[in-house]
Amino acid sequence: MWAPRWRRAAGLVLLVLWVLPALWAGAGARWSGEGSSAQLQSIFLGRCADYTRLLGPEQRSKNCTAIWEAFKVVLEKEPCSVLPSDYDLFLNLSWHPLPRDKSLFWENNHLLVTSFADQTRRFTPLCDVLYGRVGDFLSWCRQRNASGLDYESCPTMEDCENNPVDSYWKRASMQYAQDSSGVIYVMLNGSEPRGAYPVKGFFADFEIPYLQQDKVTRIEVWVMHEIGRPRVESCGEGSMKILEERLRSMGFKYSCIDNYTPVKLLMCVDHSSHPDCALKSAAASSQRGVPSPYAEPGAGLIAPLFVAALASAAQF
Ligand SMILES: *[C@@H]1O[C@H](CO)[C@@H](O)[C@H](O)[C@H]1NC(C)=O
Ligand SMILES: *[C@@H]1O[C@H](CO)[C@@H](O)[C@H](O)[C@H]1NC(C)=O
Ligand SMILES: *[C@@H]1O[C@H](CO)[C@@H](O)[C@H](O)[C@H]1NC(C)=O
Ligand SMILES: *[C@@H]1O[C@H](CO)[C@@H](O)[C@H](O)[C@H]1NC(C)=O
Repeated sequence: MWAPRWRRAAGLVLLVLWVLPALWAGAGARWSGEGSSAQLQSIFLGRCADYTRLLGPEQRSKNCTAIWEAFKVVLEKEPCSVLPSDYDLFLNLSWHPLPRDKSLFWENNHLLVTSFADQTRRFTPLCDVLYGRVGDFLSWCRQRNASGLDYESCPTMEDCENNPVDSYWKRASMQYAQDSSGVIYVMLNGSEPRGAYPVKGFFADFEIPYLQQDKVTRIEVWVMHEIGRPRVESCGEGSMKILEERLRSMGFKYSCIDNYTPVKLLMCVDHSSHPDCALKSAAASSQRGVPSPYAEPGAGLIAPLFVAALASAAQF
């Protein structure tokens, strides 16, 4: 007597617990990453055309349409079957040499690096190289088993290793490291709870191994701490020791600076009233014992520094 009722109830439970989530997953986010960026092609072509203005006269004749066509080959492949080598032709067409002493590697500092580099004006991180610029902050992948882009979600490392976005950054990172010369700069985040130097990551796995001993004169690392946040690691501590040992054992000259001043000044633009951003004490101590032309020893120095920092920030 109770059996049919029980079966109906069980059927309902099954529907709720199993069938509905499956339907929902099929219609909604399948992968753990952001879906393809809207207007991908327009953004790509616009960035490419814009960037060529920054290149020297002998590089300016880049054909952005041909570069896009080489790139979009990966938009026709299964989203978990894209290899770094699938970007070889794209890289060949978009390649240009890097200026010496301007390479800036980084982890966990994307927005700060973009601001500080200022469109190649100060430094040339990968996102300020044509082949890194066109994909910066964007996502792309084809739908699974269907043509057309997936705007819902795209795979990340958690889903599968050979996904379109990670393979792009691997290929671009290897090229960037290989082509870097002179002094190499590295900006790391000393407020990152997992450590300033991620022992697994693009820098550790796809850049350090490709640096060319004979072209690199030395490596200078900056560990930046967020203003008013705990200092998790500084130069010579924790994961920074691992990085130092690794680079020295590879034969590189290594140095490390905590809170490199030019970058700190830029961070202070957003925290100008925080005590860590007060330039007064440093200015006052450097003038100690010297008769000051100013009533307030620090004030004369602070104002021009902040005007300079603000002026450069206004250009972003
Ligand atoms: C640029 O590349 C496209 C696609 O390969 C080609 O059709 C076009 O003729 C090229 N333009 C120039 C100026 O070379
Ligand atoms: C691009 O490919 C051409 C032809 O294979 C080759 O000669 C050239 O060296 C490559 N350029 C770069 C930057 O890889
Ligand atoms: C540095 O890491 C902290 C902790 O993860 C994060 O909140 C902060 O935004 C990072 N700084 C930059 C410039 O990305
Ligand atoms: C996609 O296609 C492959 C092979 O054609 C098939 O094995 C797989 O089950 C399909 N996946 C989905 C989600 O339809």
